[in-house]
Amino acid sequence: MSEEGRPARRALDIGERKNQHIDICLNEDVEGRGEGTGFDRYRFVHSALPELDFRAIDIGAAFLGKRTKTPFMISSMTGGTDEAGRINVRLAEMAERKGWSMGLGSLRAAIEQPERAASFRVRRFAPGIPLLANLGAAQLNAGFGADECRQAMALAEADGLVLHLNGMQELFQDEGDVDFSGLLRRIERLCRDAEFPVGVKEVGFGIDGATARRLTDAGVSFVDVAGAGGTSWIEVEKYRSADPVRREAAHAFLDWGIPTAECVVGVRAAVPGTTIVASGGMHNGVDAAKAIALGANVVSYGRTLLAPALGTDEELERTFDRIAFELRAAMFGIGAGDLDRLRRTDRLAKVRW
Ligand SMILES: Cc1cc2nc3c(=O)[nH]c(=O)nc-3n(C[C@H](O)[C@H](O)[C@H](O)COP(=O)(O)O)c2cc1C
Repeated sequence: MSEEGRPARRALDIGERKNQHIDICLNEDVEGRGEGTGFDRYRFVHSALPELDFRAIDIGAAFLGKRTKTPFMISSMTGGTDEAGRINVRLAEMAERKGWSMGLGSLRAAIEQPERAASFRVRRFAPGIPLLANLGAAQLNAGFGADECRQAMALAEADGLVLHLNGMQELFQDEGDVDFSGLLRRIERLCRDAEFPVGVKEVGFGIDGATARRLTDAGVSFVDVAGAGGTSWIEVEKYRSADPVRREAAHAFLDWGIPTAECVVGVRAAVPGTTIVASGGMHNGVDAAKAIALGANVVSYGRTLLAPALGTDEELERTFDRIAFELRAAMFGIGAGDLDRLRRTDRLAKVRW
């Protein structure tokens, strides 16, 4: 195969992989089998006297220098194919209407094969939202540097870049990039060179406090914990793998990862000032309220939004409205009129260890 042919073939593989990921996430049971997200260990102590008008509850937040109507975000999911492009546009339009932030899926496909870029161009559908470009941190060991990150930022017209730290996913992917050596130094260099905010995220196995500390010391602007309790990317890759060793080994990792609630508590304690995105297995607004009370600034939803993004407009809107209603209702139930008060509440009790 010619020199010029190689990147194109690789990017075609990426496109096929993206469609397989969507299909598997929609049709297979890919939920981890551990102890869950950890939010069920906490319960709000109900207040019979909230002293609040429900209608005055304010869930306005801020992310990446922009004010938002809600603290919610759509987790980085997809791009690179026509189907992925349709999903991105529908999610972006709803994010704009409802005041959510949004992460795009990995832009590697668009950089390696520019004709795939259209599926990431959602800015015109969501001119006001905080929008994140996304790349794999491991790409920094495979030839990508500040220039490719700038390209991703420009293409997406994004407000920041989030690098995914997905070592276990890559390992269980037959064609995965498994060189995660020396990444902290490369992330540090990127944060120094970049004229835009750079954050990090996991993909469902979580980020602990000490790791978050090393990353924020290296200059990252926010930490999306993407903890365990939701989608297991070892399970997802199991369904794609042709390698019997990987497929069998996946079983031993069903409970791998740090529950999302534990990540939020750990990162908040280790890095008091950093911006935390709580994600990984988020399905409703009550868990979002708990995440914020534990110290999160933004709460992000991945696979929960995938089926609605392929459903009717009414279904998608209802999902966004339900999550916002649940957060506001939980705040009403404990008498917290805004997110600062929710963050400082003394009405979150740990009921199980
Ligand atoms: C279909 C699909 C594709 C995804 N693609 C990406 C990706 O390209 N980059 C990334 O950082 N995370 C990706 N993720 C991971 C999510 O951002 C998220 O971290 C993970 O699924 C855990 O959250 P959840 O339990 O809410 O799904 C993807 C998730 C889904 C469901």
